[in-house]
Amino acid sequence: MSGPVDTPASSQGKPARRPRVFSGTQPTGALHLGNYLGAFRGYVAMQETHDCVYCVVDLHAITVRQPRAVLRRNTMDVANMFLACGVDPERSIVMVQSHVPQHSELAWILNTIAYMGELRRMTQFKDKTGGGEGESVGVGLFDYPVLMAADILLYGSDAVPVGEDQKQHVELTRDLAERFNNAFGKTFVVPEPVIPVDAARIMGLDDPTKKMSKSAGSEYNYIALTDPPDVIRRKIRRAVTDSGTEVRPGPDKPALTNLLTIYSALTREPVETIAERYVGKGYAEFKSDLGDVVVEALAPLQARVRELEADETYTLGVLKRGAELAESIAARTLAKVHERLGLVPRPR
Ligand code: TYM
Repeated sequence: MSGPVDTPASSQGKPARRPRVFSGTQPTGALHLGNYLGAFRGYVAMQETHDCVYCVVDLHAITVRQPRAVLRRNTMDVANMFLACGVDPERSIVMVQSHVPQHSELAWILNTIAYMGELRRMTQFKDKTGGGEGESVGVGLFDYPVLMAADILLYGSDAVPVGEDQKQHVELTRDLAERFNNAFGKTFVVPEPVIPVDAARIMGLDDPTKKMSKSAGSEYNYIALTDPPDVIRRKIRRAVTDSGTEVRPGPDKPALTNLLTIYSALTREPVETIAERYVGKGYAEFKSDLGDVVVEALAPLQARVRELEADETYTLGVLKRGAELAESIAARTLAKVHERLGLVPRPR
């Protein structure tokens, strides 16, 4: 591995380690344009400046029941998609959460300092449980952000590339890190969320007031990263629009703002420049061009995914090495945590 991830600072002339990144994605269904623009592109970019750990968070995914075969397939799909988007396993660790048991163990330890009140306030928990008050709301769903904090803190992560929907969870992680450090002495790095300015929250195509989401009721909500060109074009054609005919962003134009955001994020052209080009033209022409932009942007990664799916030994090899490298870092953090808490080391 060039620029190995686990390079502690040393006094013997070795360079200090680069700042570290951790981020994760759940294997719970179709990966979509929101995941790509809000997160995966950031994963790839941050490899230039950071030592990165990218994780398929399967233990988070089991908070919502999926058939075994589906969970397996989704887990491989996320790993393949990380690689297809440009995560480079020569530079970054790519791993599956359940392969490194320290994630669960640190989550338990952090449970002992987390408060019911702060977890109850998590927007995602409230959204997923309709307020979280029911008798049969799962404990795993409630505790989900603590496992996420464990993921991040195990690797001494400085930065966490995520879409805006995960910001509150990263803030909770910061609070838990600081609380632990204050109680037991400096142990954890306090991480920062890194949220893309141009695509922090991609909205649903069928409802621009809600984020694009793999758990949306209709497939017309999202563009899956593996959708074929005709499906992409059809979904964009059917995307809801606003009243009027002008192609421009604005608070009165949530649907067009979202479509322009997608266009701009994919072409890196400012929204205003794009809007100027469509003065006097209608929604249909803009949507047709946007279809082309999306199809073209996704073509290379779709081709790569097909290659990876055809022979998964490559991805499995990446995950094997990823788990080994990740575990060596995670075990060291956990040993430090045990020591800080006063847990007796296992006799050797
Ligand atoms: P998940 O699996 O829902 O989403 C993966 C990433 O995609 C981003 N994202 C979006 N960004 C912009 N617009 C959207 N519509 C959109 N939808 C999803 C998410 O913000 C995320 O970055 N809890 C996390 C997984 C996780 C994690 C972690 C993340 C577990 N442990 C540690 C960071 C660090 C989640 O459910 O992401």
